[in-house]
Amino acid sequence: MGKLLICDNVTKRFGGLVAVNRVSVEVSRGELLGLIGPNGSGKTTLVNLISGVLAPDEGRVLFEGRDITKLKPHERVALGISRIFQGMRVYPYLPVYYNVELSARSVFKDAKLARSKTIWALTTTKLLAETLELPANLTPYKIKMVELARALVTNPKLVLLDEPFAGLSPEEVSEVIEIVRKLNGNGLTFIIVEHKLRYLMKIVGRVVVLNEGRKIFDGAPSEAVNNEEVSRVYFGVV
Ligand SMILES: Nc1ncnc2c1ncn2[C@@H]1O[C@H](COP(=O)(O)OP(=O)(O)O)[C@@H](O)[C@H]1O
Ligand SMILES: [Mg+2]
Repeated sequence: MGKLLICDNVTKRFGGLVAVNRVSVEVSRGELLGLIGPNGSGKTTLVNLISGVLAPDEGRVLFEGRDITKLKPHERVALGISRIFQGMRVYPYLPVYYNVELSARSVFKDAKLARSKTIWALTTTKLLAETLELPANLTPYKIKMVELARALVTNPKLVLLDEPFAGLSPEEVSEVIEIVRKLNGNGLTFIIVEHKLRYLMKIVGRVVVLNEGRKIFDGAPSEAVNNEEVSRVYFGVV
């Protein structure tokens, strides 16, 4: 079977700065891939290129063998690519249930289906007790769960998580990991951008390391920590 996602030599420039420089990454169905690198190394930009928030200046993005380079974010969501953003992206004064249902309705025109998907996503993210709460009144962890529910409710094949552990306690991080592992065990593919390596390295099967927009490593987490260049540019500075 072909790869789920292929980034083929993608480049993104901001003026004179090359944020992502000829990066190629292939992701198979069912993988749990870590994307790491120092601050400003291009991780969020690469996630934006995959989700369609940005278009590459060069290179292509393929999903299930189809060239999606020119597709808009909502078109990619419909194909099965969901993401949660670095920082919070929910409607703070819309009850949790409607936050999630709105996302469901963007993909499922059938109201009944959208409703049942919403209940499933709220159950999966353990938000059933908060369905009528406003996100504005929730903890950062619960807001993160609302974001995750919004990403899951569209029936994705690939979920992109940009720093999902940021601002969470160790217990909350464990909760997120448990949910991600369970979904991954059911075949859902994840790309996780994360700074908290001690958590990330334990859960991912493979890690891609970026530095100054370039891919400098692609392989097993255990090999990444022993790689000289990775140690120098990444572990050396934390
Ligand atoms: N919209 C933008 N306009 C100009 N420069 C940007 C923009 N987004 C990111 N950059 C720059 O591109 C580089 C990579 O940023 P980013 O992908 O956010 O890094 P990371 O997520 O790894 O910290 C940084 O130097 C950043 O300042
Ligand atoms: Mg970032």
